[in-house]
Amino acid sequence: MGKRKLLLSALTGGVILGAVATAQEQMPSHLQELLELGMHPGHAYVDEGRETFNTLKGPNGKTCASCHGEDGAKLEGAYAKMPRYYTDIDRVADLDLRILSCMTKYMGFDPKDKKFRKEFDKWNGRYRVPLATFVASLSNGMEINVQLDDPQEKELYKKGEKLWFMRVGARDFSCGICHTVLTGRRIRLQGLPDPVKAKVYTHWPAYRFGSDKMWTMEDRVRSCFKAYFLYEKKWDEKKDWVQKPPPYSDWVIALELYMKYAANGGVVEVPGLLR
Ligand code: HEC
Ligand code: HEC
Repeated sequence: MGKRKLLLSALTGGVILGAVATAQEQMPSHLQELLELGMHPGHAYVDEGRETFNTLKGPNGKTCASCHGEDGAKLEGAYAKMPRYYTDIDRVADLDLRILSCMTKYMGFDPKDKKFRKEFDKWNGRYRVPLATFVASLSNGMEINVQLDDPQEKELYKKGEKLWFMRVGARDFSCGICHTVLTGRRIRLQGLPDPVKAKVYTHWPAYRFGSDKMWTMEDRVRSCFKAYFLYEKKWDEKKDWVQKPPPYSDWVIALELYMKYAANGGVVEVPGLLR
């Protein structure tokens, strides 16, 4: 246990330096001071997630640790291989959906219970974001290694690649126009990263100091959809594209799979730190 913590702080030390180099100009000064002291605001989410993982009891009395070990011992490296196909839910799941499935299937939470869903879905809720950040951190230092063995994985990957380049919405834009074609240009004063070539998945979930919260890749993808109007007014079967894709939907997970597969070989270093 001690070993992992040491490794973790060594690694996140590296992340902090890397991120400061790219993001220094606009970083608020109180955050710069924190970073100089070696403190990363995202670590609070890791700690909160670990606490929840070990102690939160579902209606049936089980905790995450009941099945996955104290401090998630049996989940080390799991995030590096996700999204992947799971037999028990017969779906390809990303981290967010996997955790939701475990809570509803194995801990007795009711997926339709509004109070539960608020704590799960919301950015500032107690469950999804801290748990995802903690579980992801258990793969720190490991290489991303997403495989496309299962037919459902292959199919979803193809869908992700197609969606990436598909032009939709009032502006006739696609993810790829911004992130593959216009990479390096600036939009709303932000440089455009190339999530595919740059293997950005290594630093997700990431703490974004502009919004002062932790984001999972689910949040990031859905937010780009919404912010850049990548949707049709009306549902169009042929275009295979929905208006503001619902959370944990195949549209989102397909794009995650596409990007994470491209990040194979990159080393997980989370939580990341971004503008
Ligand atoms: C009663 C047992 C049980 C509980 C409680 C439980 N899970 Fe799971 N979990 C499973 C099973 C079964 C799988 C599917 C394993 C497989 O197919 O490889 C799984 C898979 C996972 C995976 C993916 C592992 C991998 O190797 O890809 C993650 C991450 C995970 N669970 C997180 C959680 C979290 C976080 C909690 C608490 C909120 C939790 N689980 C609670 C049984 C449980
Ligand atoms: C109109 C341009 C535009 C479109 C279209 C767009 N994005 Fe983005 N995206 C951005 C900008 C700008 C940022 C950087 C935001 C920041 O710096 O915080 C970003 C950030 C990201 C990141 C994080 C990159 C990093 O550095 O870690 C990912 C991943 C991403 N977008 C995925 C997508 C996906 C998937 C789609 C299609 C559904 C999409 N984007 C569509 C402009 C766009």
